[in-house]
Amino acid sequence: MRTRTQVGIVGAGPAGLLLSHLLALRGIDSVVVEIRSREHCEARQRAGVLEDGSVALLRDAGLASRLDQLGLQHGGIYLQFGGVRQHIDFRELTGGRTVTVYAQTEVVKDLIARRLADGGADAIAFSCTETEVADLDTASPVLRYTDADGNRHEVSCDAIAGCDGFHGICRPAIPPGVLTTWERDYPYSWLGILADVPPSTDELIYAHHSEGFALHSLRSPAVSRLYLQVDPDEVAESWPDERVWDELSRRFELPGWTLQRGPVLDKSITPMRSFVSAPMRYGRLFLAGDAAHIVPPTGAKGLNLALADVAVLAPALDALLHGDEKLADAYSATCLDRVWRSTHFSWWMTTMLHRTPGADEMATQLQLSQLRYVTSSRAAATSLAENYTGWPLLPRLPSDADHSY
Ligand code: FAD
Ligand code: DHB
Repeated sequence: MRTRTQVGIVGAGPAGLLLSHLLALRGIDSVVVEIRSREHCEARQRAGVLEDGSVALLRDAGLASRLDQLGLQHGGIYLQFGGVRQHIDFRELTGGRTVTVYAQTEVVKDLIARRLADGGADAIAFSCTETEVADLDTASPVLRYTDADGNRHEVSCDAIAGCDGFHGICRPAIPPGVLTTWERDYPYSWLGILADVPPSTDELIYAHHSEGFALHSLRSPAVSRLYLQVDPDEVAESWPDERVWDELSRRFELPGWTLQRGPVLDKSITPMRSFVSAPMRYGRLFLAGDAAHIVPPTGAKGLNLALADVAVLAPALDALLHGDEKLADAYSATCLDRVWRSTHFSWWMTTMLHRTPGADEMATQLQLSQLRYVTSSRAAATSLAENYTGWPLLPRLPSDADHSY
């Protein structure tokens, strides 16, 4: 089947879905092609923390009715190390900035519901196979896929957005020699659980411990989300629930405080990686989100970067389709500025808080010194707070002045 759309989008994660919605607000047609089922996309446990700018972006785009109802605004985090738990007060340090705990699963559900309501059942093709992109260096790139019923599609586009995550097909479709990549693998992974128990804390706890890092997050007043640093070759089967809770209790231990346990609803292991590939554009193919860059999750940045990329990409594509290439030409550099800041912050949080296998006692003392500094110097705490709450996004919705290209 041969069809046409203005923007072909590969991947129905946060980046692809929000881009499709932002384009629709500008009157631009798109089709989203996704390898997984709708149920899988809506259930995949991932991020939980939205920066202020991400919340504002979703609100401005008319996507925040459930977020405003269910999102939990947090004005700080705790850093725990050397037997103490210290609060970093974002509101006070940054003039009122906060983050919002709202699961990526909910962001994705909101986006899918909205795209299908506005664009009809054909707006997102789930459970596709054999996705291919071609003719990327022409003005009519092509997106090919086989739909869930086995029909082969060829969609002629004005531009293609590669929003298909780190393991997608779009980045590898760029000819050799075009991209420069920077990559760092970390010698540890995160074991994450979702637990049917009220959180034992009012704000997130990031814990440095001689056995390794632990993070207490949450999903709602009734559901907790917790992470443990484990060796990279660990498998979830070696971590029965009791072992996970015992280890979490040990790493968060504090006199007078108890970690509440409950039924484990989900358990998975995630590797840790920093990766940046540039430029984020080749001809009429634009990469966004994890397709172009990955950060280790310690700074809670990946989802926010994915949303920020497409907030820049939507007006750039709008202008491009109207014959003005300026914003499209600036797309990669504009995004990479934020990407590198978040890459550095995520690396810094990660290396400050995790135990590096084989590291000497000197390394531990340096981490503890940094943690004492960050929790006692207003300047150092402010730096953490402004990075964690994120940098402002340029407002780029259709009503904006910058629409006058
Ligand atoms: P993805 O969400 O990966 O979406 C890509 C989509 O493309 C997927 O649906 C995939 O199925 C699809 N796809 C892949 N290949 C193809 C193909 N060939 N054809 C069609 N479709 C394809 N970030 C934060 O900001 N805050 C956090 O607190 C945070 N915590 C995290 C915790 C964990 C445990 C993990 C794993 C990640 C966390 N992140 C966090 C990172 C965040 O989840 C990702 O950065 C985010 O999902 C990126 O969105 P995306 O749309 O770019 O990519
Ligand atoms: C969550 C994940 C993170 O990586 C993080 O730094 C904070 C919270 C979460 O899933 O809730």
